[in-house]
Amino acid sequence: MDPTSRPAVVIDNGTGYTKMGFAGNVEPCFIIPTVVAVNESFLGQASAPTGKGGWGGSALHSAGVMADLDFFIGDEALARKDANAYTLSYPIRHGQVENWDTMERFWQQCIFNYLRCDPEDHYFLLTESPLTAPETREYTGEIMFETFNVPGLYIAVQAVLALAAGYTTSKCEMTGVVVDAGDGMTHVVPVADGYVIGSSIKSVPIAGRDLNIFIQQLMRERGEPVPPEDSLDISRKIKEMYCYTCADIVKEFGKHDKEPSKYIKQWTGKNSKTGTPYKCDIGYERFLAPEVFFSPEIYSSDFTVPLPEIVDKCIQTSPIDTRRALYKNIVLSGGSTMFKDFQRRLQRDIKKIVDTRLTASEFRNGGGHKAQAVDVNVVGHHMQRFAVWFGGSVLASTPDFYKACHTKAEYEEYGSSICRTNPVFKGMY
Ligand SMILES: Nc1ncnc2c1ncn2[C@@H]1O[C@H](COP(=O)(O)OP(=O)(O)OP(=O)(O)O)[C@@H](O)[C@H]1O
Ligand SMILES: [Mg+2]
Repeated sequence: MDPTSRPAVVIDNGTGYTKMGFAGNVEPCFIIPTVVAVNESFLGQASAPTGKGGWGGSALHSAGVMADLDFFIGDEALARKDANAYTLSYPIRHGQVENWDTMERFWQQCIFNYLRCDPEDHYFLLTESPLTAPETREYTGEIMFETFNVPGLYIAVQAVLALAAGYTTSKCEMTGVVVDAGDGMTHVVPVADGYVIGSSIKSVPIAGRDLNIFIQQLMRERGEPVPPEDSLDISRKIKEMYCYTCADIVKEFGKHDKEPSKYIKQWTGKNSKTGTPYKCDIGYERFLAPEVFFSPEIYSSDFTVPLPEIVDKCIQTSPIDTRRALYKNIVLSGGSTMFKDFQRRLQRDIKKIVDTRLTASEFRNGGGHKAQAVDVNVVGHHMQRFAVWFGGSVLASTPDFYKACHTKAEYEEYGSSICRTNPVFKGMY
């Protein structure tokens, strides 16, 4: 059967979570942590210097085979974190693949154990962070075409996919700024007519993982009785369930102090090792954690520029004729933009910066000439949590997708360098 008549496989590998499924679906089939548990004892033997054939050689060979089989990914890997034989490996850091060996193992299980498909039968759409080097794309191409024998591959920039995700919910617009706040990194990426404006991309070294650490610190300082080995995971759960963005931090402190019964929540849990139950309070961290995006100095002394300022800078450094369109379509993507009222706060703060600049320029011009107001729109939608994956699902289900893919035949003829660039498929817009 022709692979183009089967749905493409869409995999968005994030620092924290991998979203995978088939093109045309509304949701990924699986969202699992991007982690691999490898059995080190086999790995050690497999990589030992080979003896002179005979028994030693075959034992080493079977150790290598076992190492290839004895590994787990996602939640199954995390469940083995305390097992002596296994070591956890996180193949992606800050959005970039750092360990190709574990990345390949990870893909192997995604395809065969989770999606349960034959990679030779499906085209593949994978994603990459906006700052990925072309060499990385070549490695990805090599693994996909040679190890998995895929018939076709497209590697899309995550931000472009996040813009395409809005495509079904509103008018199709491929000009906008994507604010993608995931687990390991936050990127602000301007896109004009489907093309990334590379020189204006801004990165913020603050994302979901940092907020987990911040909540952990706040609760530890207050002396909450959370078992240390569970505290990071509990902090993440608290963040996802109870945190929200406030309009004014000082007022929010006041509200909490005035009506603690309304704002302070309780967490009950069990020590993961001993099973002993414990209780703790969830207080100011509910609004202080998301506030890190707007007042980063409360968390870090190294990085102190608020996200609204970064978005504004990103647009101001983009070509002048795109700026109005960019302010009009600031699209949210990634799990760390899910906080209640995050969108409202970001929109309000960007609008403030823009209006202040307009007023200042009117003043400089003597006040006689009124500048035209700038429309600032921050857009969220119900696919925000996995906007990148959903955009991939939408794009990969159009006929143009198959035309834009690199094929196995091209790979065999020209080599992995074909993967260095990917055409933006313009046909559909
Ligand atoms: N409802 C929620 N509210 C706040 N944060 C959430 C929520 N749901 C998930 N998150 C956080 O979002 C992060 C995961 O987001 P996402 O899957 O977009 O990241 P990623 O793609 O793995 O990382 P990156 O894009 O940085 O490589 C995690 O830190 C998770 O705790
Ligand atoms: Mg991501």
